[in-house]
Amino acid sequence: MSIDTALTTPLTKLAAWKALEDHFKKISKQHLRDLFANDPDRGTRLTAEAEGIYLDYSKHRITDETLKLLLQLAEESGLKARLDAMFSGEKINITEKRAVLHVALRAPKGEKIVVDGEDVVPAVHEVLDRMAAFSERIRSGEWKGHTGKPIKNVINIGIGGSDLGPVMAYEALRHYSRRDMTFRFVSNVDGTDFAEATHDLDAEETLFIISSKTFTTLETMTNAHTARDWALKKLGDAKAVAKHFVAVSTNAEEVTKFGIDTANMFGFWDWVGGRYSMDSAIGLSTMLAVGPDNFKKLLAGFHSIDEHFRTAPFEKNLPVLMGLLSVWYNDFFDAQTVAVLPYDQYLKRFPAYLQQLTMESNGKHVTLSGEHVTYETGPIFWGEPGTNGQHSFYQLIHQGTKLIPCDFIGFAKTLNPLGNHHDLLMANVFAQTEALAFGKTAEEVKAEGTPDWLVPHRVFEGNRPTNTILMEELTPEALGKLVALYEHSVFTQGAIWQIDSFDQWGVELGKVLAKRIIGELEGPASGKHDSSTNTLIARYKKQRG
Ligand code: F6P
Repeated sequence: MSIDTALTTPLTKLAAWKALEDHFKKISKQHLRDLFANDPDRGTRLTAEAEGIYLDYSKHRITDETLKLLLQLAEESGLKARLDAMFSGEKINITEKRAVLHVALRAPKGEKIVVDGEDVVPAVHEVLDRMAAFSERIRSGEWKGHTGKPIKNVINIGIGGSDLGPVMAYEALRHYSRRDMTFRFVSNVDGTDFAEATHDLDAEETLFIISSKTFTTLETMTNAHTARDWALKKLGDAKAVAKHFVAVSTNAEEVTKFGIDTANMFGFWDWVGGRYSMDSAIGLSTMLAVGPDNFKKLLAGFHSIDEHFRTAPFEKNLPVLMGLLSVWYNDFFDAQTVAVLPYDQYLKRFPAYLQQLTMESNGKHVTLSGEHVTYETGPIFWGEPGTNGQHSFYQLIHQGTKLIPCDFIGFAKTLNPLGNHHDLLMANVFAQTEALAFGKTAEEVKAEGTPDWLVPHRVFEGNRPTNTILMEELTPEALGKLVALYEHSVFTQGAIWQIDSFDQWGVELGKVLAKRIIGELEGPASGKHDSSTNTLIARYKKQRG
């Protein structure tokens, strides 16, 4: 089905949607205990594997009929046509009139992806080559700071997509990173972030990467100016900027205005969304940390899942399956959130990274044609690494009144073999998904000798759905695959919901109002706000003194 045909029919009028509504009424009360008991092969059958990612989706509240209808929904929604439109450089970000081509960032040399009549792949590789040459110069010590010392500290200044991807990737790939260098990330306009990131660093050995697609973002530009003042105060010469500041941006004009020579600028393009940019030049800090070869492996991982997403039949397509299951809970079970639970300490920033990827993409209230949606769109993503979360919020997931589908992510091999730590960690992954699915009945609790009055408190209803994502080892390639898996799952969901997953108008109003209020904090108050905002501004100014 073409995109246009798919979009002329509102989602809730599609035959598959209506069939899913009826089907939901029939199966919503079915328990995973019964689904497993009646189907001994379920745990091997409802799985999919591609490019080293094993996805077990058997512990979902679905039957074969559910899957059939969800796959039909994907067909009727024109997912294939939308996916092809993205890969071929069509301007599917319709409100910003932009192509959406993060997949081009990891296309191998020689592939061709055309935007506005131009093949963009050569330009991608030109920037990658420049990044690699620069990284080698910094890592080898050939690049010297203003006073002749090699660079030992790298500070990425950026926010949103210009921070969350770099910091997540640095943490995730720390095992592969240069241990004799320090990497820090400053994002918040709260001066504490900058002050703490720099207080123990020597400016003579410090390189700032100013990462901003627009180079106009308030937080980043404020921090960038503070960084320049900090560096110049210590180095005492405006010429030092050339040796201690580089920029990653699409806006050469603003970069020049800031005082960074465009020879020290690494570019990208308007067809890379901020939250999809960690594999563009925005990943410069990642490349500096892990080296160009590992960065290439990261890109190769992304690309392998791009190809899988583009070519695999939907019933075996990991991002499509994950996306459809997310729609199933979000729209039929009315689940409000998804918990992402990586059982790997290196992935501690992965949930935060996914929050922007998923919520800035699919937190939309109108369809592509501007109609208010009549169904739920993007769920809230949240999470923490296991096993820490188990001693915190898992209580609510197990026994609370809210249904929270969870993604468990684990690796067969650890990068830090220490006694039996890894088996203990992974035992918890398997135990949690088992407990969430099957729970513990009142009979089972009683049989343990529990007094009657305590039985209800100790019952686990179970029937809590989970994905288990199992991979061999957290390598740069594996990280690329994992991120691409979620990127394309987000795409799948957005296509079903008929929304623009690539704009972010919802962040604008707050930015505009903040600019207006800054003037009032630094000058006379306008008194033109509502009574609450007026009072808060007045109180702040009084207490601040
Ligand atoms: O405010 C949201 C946002 O526009 C994100 O989409 C983006 O990742 C972030 O701000 C940073 O933008 P920039 O890279 O232009 O500084």
